[in-house]
Amino acid sequence: MNNPIIIAIDGYSSSGKSTISRYLASEIGYRYIDSGAMYRAVTLYALRAGLIDAAGNINVEALTAALPSIHIDFKVNPGGKQSTMLNGEDVEAEIRRLEVAEHVSPVAAIPAVRHALVARQQAMGAEKGIVMDGRDIGTTVFPHAEMKVFITAAPEERARRRMAELEAKGEHATYEEVLHNVNERDHIDRTRAESPLRQAPDAVLLDNTHMAFEEQNQFMLDLFHKITRG
Ligand code: DC
Repeated sequence: MNNPIIIAIDGYSSSGKSTISRYLASEIGYRYIDSGAMYRAVTLYALRAGLIDAAGNINVEALTAALPSIHIDFKVNPGGKQSTMLNGEDVEAEIRRLEVAEHVSPVAAIPAVRHALVARQQAMGAEKGIVMDGRDIGTTVFPHAEMKVFITAAPEERARRRMAELEAKGEHATYEEVLHNVNERDHIDRTRAESPLRQAPDAVLLDNTHMAFEEQNQFMLDLFHKITRG
């Protein structure tokens, strides 16, 4: 292998980031880290510990104090699928549930949570050979990543993809509700004070509104080879 690099992939929700990142990592033999799963795991911990009340208020002080005892890592299962581990427990299915999704944005906006997770993400990248996706990977976590991609698609297309995901899980919502939610999440992601979602100046833009999955994979592989072969 050429010298391993860091690949930072950021972008909007439901832009297909995780699928593209996971595929790229497996093609090139790199480790894949889903940073969003880490924010989801902290949210699950807070819910279980009763640190988020019925109105959605977060006990920030208690959550901040608990951060050193929240251990998150990733286990690779036979067949290659990854599980997110929270203090040794496989919580992969639970962190994808609606209850976690509904509370994760405000948890991810807490500066102490971000500082703790960013430090852990940076430690995971110390040996390079890693693909990490999220919202602030190319801007805050790895500002010196050798390869940065910012992924987007039209909100209407992302709403359609999200609908399909929800339907596959047996959850039902109207297209209008889902589109509203996509626009709302974009707004929260872009306007929060701490590490807002934005394209790093040196990131390559991938708008996949009209792109097939194979085309996107090829785009990523070509970019990777161009960067690593010089
Ligand atoms: O990508 P996702 O839907 O699993 O992300 C879950 C939440 O975490 C979402 O509200 C955005 C936030 N997030 C973040 O703030 N920074 C990251 N690096 C990754 C995710």
